[in-house]
Amino acid sequence: MATPLYSIPGASVGAPADDDGTTPMTGGATAGGPATSGARTVNQVLAETQVLTVIEELEDDLVGLAPVKQRIRDIAALLVIDKLRANLGLAAASGHGQATAPSLHMCFTGNPGTGKTTVALRMAQILHRLGYSRKGHLIAVTRDDLVGQYIGHTAPKTKEVLKKAMGGVLFIDEAYYLYRPENERDYGQEAIEILLQVMENQRDDLVVILAGYKNRMDTFFQSNPGMSSRIAHHIDFPDYAVPELLQIGQRMLGGMHYRFGDGALAVFENYLQRRKAQPHFANARSVRNALDRIRLRQASRLFADGDRELTADDLVTLIPADILASRVFQLPT
Ligand SMILES: Nc1ncnc2c1ncn2[C@@H]1O[C@H](COP(=O)(O)OP(=O)(O)O)[C@@H](O)[C@H]1O
Ligand SMILES: [Mg+2]
Repeated sequence: MATPLYSIPGASVGAPADDDGTTPMTGGATAGGPATSGARTVNQVLAETQVLTVIEELEDDLVGLAPVKQRIRDIAALLVIDKLRANLGLAAASGHGQATAPSLHMCFTGNPGTGKTTVALRMAQILHRLGYSRKGHLIAVTRDDLVGQYIGHTAPKTKEVLKKAMGGVLFIDEAYYLYRPENERDYGQEAIEILLQVMENQRDDLVVILAGYKNRMDTFFQSNPGMSSRIAHHIDFPDYAVPELLQIGQRMLGGMHYRFGDGALAVFENYLQRRKAQPHFANARSVRNALDRIRLRQASRLFADGDRELTADDLVTLIPADILASRVFQLPT
């Protein structure tokens, strides 16, 4: 095996405590494994880690996404069992007799606004609870954060990002932009090579999640088999159906202390049906943007009536006219 060219500090066993002075959760464990404990049953691990709280919150907070939620439960189960195995000395051993961390690098594919970033943040918490992430934080980046414009700029940039992400999750959005086959000398390749080494050699201290459109990611993996082989979990995020979008919208409104007045829910459903059929529809993100515009129209409507005393009800209620003024109702369907 090649000697690692890149080793990001703050990763290996015996590393100093975190910047914030907290003791790493994995401290004292064998390399790569979570801290050993006396737990012998699944429920003991669950009680010890409180991981179910995070999983249940995720399931309650997010509308739909049944297949994604199931995959998250499966991954959590795998990690709980891995912990129990480690407690009995059954951890998978590397060639050097050391316990190896299970490979946790993931790929989240789906269209914009399907919840990939949101789920990645929760995944970072789950990994932290289970002791597979020292800090539980997530650093979200795109190509521009990793790749430099000039020769010699890429390696320091990529290493700086990796340093920040160590002990947590590195989320690379639209990861396929790292690879530009049309440009032989593209610096993205350099970033990919550094990432590959760190993903392999320091996987006990860094989880990488790649995200983006399914078809582009597939093409990227075909040209980058090294990356493909290091991704253990592929999770596909389906588009939301209109009833799900409607429910997401209602939750968002509730969170902002607004509500739909008489007839407004039906109009918003009609809006979503039309909007979904248009270009650049971005699932839950489009719902959020639509609600922002509807709130603007509500504000203008109330503003126009300068002398009226406004009740709490006036201030929280969105009426059909606030929605019907949208451009999508002017377009032919
Ligand atoms: N299933 C869901 N339930 C509730 N809100 C959601 C759901 N999926 C996405 N959202 C919200 O939609 C917005 C976009 O989601 P995000 O995770 O950024 O999508 P992506 O990363 O796939 O583009 C966020 O405000 C998020 O909270
Ligand atoms: Mg995102």
